[in-house]
Amino acid sequence: MRYITFALSKGRLTELSIELLEGAGIDCTELKEDSRKLILSDDKNKIRFFLAKPADVPVYVEYGAADIGIVGKDTLIEEGRDLYEVLDLGFARCRMCVAGPKELEGKMDSVSITRVATKYPEVARTYFRHKRRESVEIIKLSGSVELAPLVGLSEVIVDLVETGRTLKENGLVVLDTISEISARMVVNRVSMKMENQRITKIIEGIRKQL
Ligand code: PRP
Repeated sequence: MRYITFALSKGRLTELSIELLEGAGIDCTELKEDSRKLILSDDKNKIRFFLAKPADVPVYVEYGAADIGIVGKDTLIEEGRDLYEVLDLGFARCRMCVAGPKELEGKMDSVSITRVATKYPEVARTYFRHKRRESVEIIKLSGSVELAPLVGLSEVIVDLVETGRTLKENGLVVLDTISEISARMVVNRVSMKMENQRITKIIEGIRKQL
């Protein structure tokens, strides 16, 4: 029997992902050890895991280097990979939003926006292409995106809003909501066919806890 491989997102999703796997009867002891080993396993259940940067998780799953992935919907819509999204895991909930200074509230359709800063260029490009006739320049940043409108890099941003605290403390507001975000479980299309029984059993073990 071959190993089923999980790609988990490194960072804020890691801990809750491990909890869900444990709840489904998967032994994550090795995964929880502070080690430099890149691939960890539950040999009894013939399951192995690795942690990757969130943006890389859909890549590993699409190519079949991992059978199953746990990753945020934000990353899935940005990466646009060909995968089965099988479960909404319900944690790490937030919203993908357009945000900007209060002065733009209710004026999104009338003011001219020339630049948008974001960690999600594809999401921003798609949104502005469909919503607006004028073309906007998308500026990709790696983090602290809220800075951009404060220092004049862009008029608005496309970013995740969880509690809204970062926006509030910087005098910014949500101008439009693009989509609801949460952690998702994704499966490689070929694995879903070839290992259907084992993968379905894992999905059911996780679904029961949601
Ligand atoms: C995320 C997001 C916002 C913030 C929203 O950033 O990009 O900046 O959290 O959370 P809030 O609505 O609860 O304030 P993250 O902490 O991942 O850091 P980053 O900006 O450096 O990516």
